[in-house]
Parts: sequence; C-alpha cells; structure tokens
Amino acid sequence: QVAAASGHTVVLVDQSDEILKKSTKGIEESLKRVTKKKFADKPEAGAEFIKKTLKNLTTSTDAASVVHSTDLVIEAIVENMDVKNKLFKTLDKFAPEHTIFASNTSSLQITKMANATTRQDRFGGLHFFNPVPMMKLVEVIKTPMTSQKTFESLVDFSKAVGKSPVSCKDTPGFIVNRLLVPYMMEAVRLFERGDASKEDIDVAMKLGAGYPMGPFELLDYVGLDTSKYIIDGWHSLEPNNPLFAPSPLLNKLVEEKKLGKKTGEGFYKYK
Ligand code: 3HC
Repeated sequence: QVAAASGHTVVLVDQSDEILKKSTKGIEESLKRVTKKKFADKPEAGAEFIKKTLKNLTTSTDAASVVHSTDLVIEAIVENMDVKNKLFKTLDKFAPEHTIFASNTSSLQITKMANATTRQDRFGGLHFFNPVPMMKLVEVIKTPMTSQKTFESLVDFSKAVGKSPVSCKDTPGFIVNRLLVPYMMEAVRLFERGDASKEDIDVAMKLGAGYPMGPFELLDYVGLDTSKYIIDGWHSLEPNNPLFAPSPLLNKLVEEKKLGKKTGEGFYKYK
C-alpha cells in the first residue's frame, strides 16, 4: 500500500485469490482512511489518489512468474526459516541479477536467509511496523554481507515511501522488538502473577508512560501468534535469559486460537 501510494509499481503476492481479494479490500479501506485526512478539503483529489494508487497495484499467486520484473522483493510470509528459505531459493533462480531481496521478519536472522541465495550482497532487512500506513519507522538491517550499495538503496526506498529509516545490525529483534517484546512479556507475567488486572496495566502504560496502546491492546493488535513465535525463537537461542522466558498464559491463548484482534479474541474480546 505505501509503496503503491508513493508511485511504485507493486505486485502483491499471496497463496490464494481469496486472500488477495481480502488484502486488496483491506488496502482500499486503509487508503480511504489515509485519504480522508490527507485530502480533507479536496475529496476529488482524494478519489484520484486512491485510483492512482490502486492502478500501481496488481496481484498474483505465483511469485516465481512475476519476480522477473522486480527491482526489490519484500518478503512478509510466515515466521518460519525453512519456509522463507525455500521461497528465497526459488525466487533467486528467477529474479534479475540486480534485484534486491529484503525480509520483513520480526525476529529471524536475515543472514540465514541471505545464505539460502546466491545474492548475499543484495540481501537485507526492511522491517515495517503495524499499522504500516501510520507508523513512520522502518528498520533497515545490514548483515555482514550486505553491500553498502544495497544498504543505501534500502534506505533510499524507505525514504521514498515516506518513512524514517534507522539502521541496525542483524541481531535478535533489531531495535524496536528487542525492547518492545520483553516489555510486553513482562506485562503478561505481571498479570499472570495477579499483581494487577490487564485493564489496569493498559491504563497505567497509556496514562503513566504516554503509550498510545497498553501492552495487552498491543499484543492483541500485533497478534498473539506472532508474539509467541518471536519469544519462542529467542528462548531457544538463549534459554537462560529470563527476558525471553515463554508465558503459559500466552501459550494457552494461542493454543485456543485466540490470536488477538484478527480472530475476534485475544486478551480482550472484539465481537
Ligand atoms: N490505515 C490507515 N489509517 C489508519 C490505520 C490503518 N490501518 N489505522 C489507524 N489509522 C488512522 C485512523 O484512521 C486515524 O486517523 P484520524 O486521526 O484521521 O482519525 C488515526 O490512525 C488514529 O486511529 P484511531 O483514532 O483509530 O486510534 P488511535 O488514535 O489509537 O491510533 C494507532 C491508532 C495509530 C494504531 C495507535 O494506537 C498506535 O500508534 N498504536 C501503537 C502501535 C504500535 O506500537 N505499533 C508497533 C507494533 S510492533 C510491530 O509492528 C513490529 C512487529 O514486528 C511485531
């Protein structure tokens, strides 16, 4: 959405036409929200902006057949290294020589993905934040093999889509999640111990620390499955680090498919 809105030609790829239909509808809804504010006094210019943005966006269910026309691939699939590497390996065969590959992973090692391809120097991380149309930050991740030219291209692209890039080495969680995820897990542990209610913890962090959402609202917004993947991955890397300890309550909710806002229930109910 943000790439198409800033004039880039985008092919959105997913596994089925049904998912792509839902995604396109989500983008249209989001564009309406953005436009309402951006073109408050000029509804005609707003309608033109939406039309132009959607014209830049096509969809496909076959990544290998569309990758030949790309300069940049941004992967945002399931947080599973084997699945990601399988995709990158295939795309590497069909993508042009100059094409840069980037992963939007929250917590997995970019270096491992780069090593699944033959373009380690043209591989980096581009980590966006939910909701992407509103959040101004992009983390640009440079592995030891990412070339300076690739890094600069990723920084330039981030600026071209209207974001403020920061750079970070390929370390677990980069900057934001390395601080944010342990904070959210500490909130769950506070609640699990019965020290405070989740409602009071959320109010406390909003009114006492100026956060736009409390940790439980944010966990539900990000997705409990995503948060669990992140913490489980870090726990397996550093089993003795108490900041990365799994939470029985989070595990239980994920097991019950209460994944947050997207499934209608997580820590809170959204029906
Ligand atoms: N598309 C377009 N516009 C959107 C939007 C979307 N998806 N979501 C919200 N907005 C707009 C609304 O239209 C509204 O615009 P307005 O000011 O013109 O009315 C504006 O954002 C504010 O929205 P709301 O009034 O609905 O609610 P809030 O004031 O609470 O703002 C929020 C919503 C921007 C999501 C804010 O609560 C917030 O910043 N929350 C924290 C988000 C955060 O921390 N994100 C990072 C998560 S971590 C992550 O993503 C990393 C990953 O790896 C796990």
